[in-house]
Amino acid sequence: MSRERYAAIDAFLVDALVGDDPALTAALEANARAGLPSIDVAPNQGKLLHLLARVSGAQRILELGTLGGYSTIWLARALPAGGALVTVEADPRHAEVARDNLSRAGVDALVDLRVGPGLEVLPALAAESPEPFDLIFVDADKASTADYVRWALDLGRPGALLIVDNVVRGGAIIDEGDPGPSVAGIRRFFALAAAEPRLDATAIQTVGLKGHDGFALAIIGRA
Ligand code: SAH
Ligand code: DHB
Ligand code: MG
Repeated sequence: MSRERYAAIDAFLVDALVGDDPALTAALEANARAGLPSIDVAPNQGKLLHLLARVSGAQRILELGTLGGYSTIWLARALPAGGALVTVEADPRHAEVARDNLSRAGVDALVDLRVGPGLEVLPALAAESPEPFDLIFVDADKASTADYVRWALDLGRPGALLIVDNVVRGGAIIDEGDPGPSVAGIRRFFALAAAEPRLDATAIQTVGLKGHDGFALAIIGRA
């Protein structure tokens, strides 16, 4: 099936089940105006994140890779009163756009946006001994995905839900030859998930508006 047809089917699904939300649409428009890459999760994926956060009763969410805050808004809207979301973004320009989008969506009071490379922000966060997180969404630089998942093992509570975006990369994860740093990072994540007794995981392919990729889902357990 063609990429166009997958995208048209995604458009149908979004129209049928997700609908149009002014703050989310405004966020995507602001991202485009600011020249951010349109690599946010698709609307139906954003709603999947939202539903997973609600069904798991998440009160504390950690996100790696904010971009303009599109996925952040979906996740923050799933939080109950008193909930909190920490999101980490390396690019200050992206973070600035995200701040505006989060406040326009009315979720800024719930969101703690930390600007810096994930592998610097996470040790600093861990040093604060935060309350454990119930849901962790890893969607930053793919080269560091396995490292972020190692941090998730420390920062997530037993039973926490781990979601990892971009684990298929158009199928590049099974291709031979030089994988490049992103695919190599994703492969390290799969090796970690297979070897780590605290991770019980699966992955599904995603197609549609954002091309062919995948989400991995895992429960973080006790060792
Ligand atoms: N979760 C977003 C999309 C994130 S795109 C959404 O669905 O709406 C990936 C983001 O990770 C980009 O904004 C990029 O700047 C950021 N990023 C890249 N390297 C990073 C790093 N080392 N630490 C934290 N964020 C990083
Ligand atoms: C790309 C897609 C993503 O969902 C992401 O988080 C980062 C990069 C990409 O297609 O380049
Ligand atoms: Mg992504």
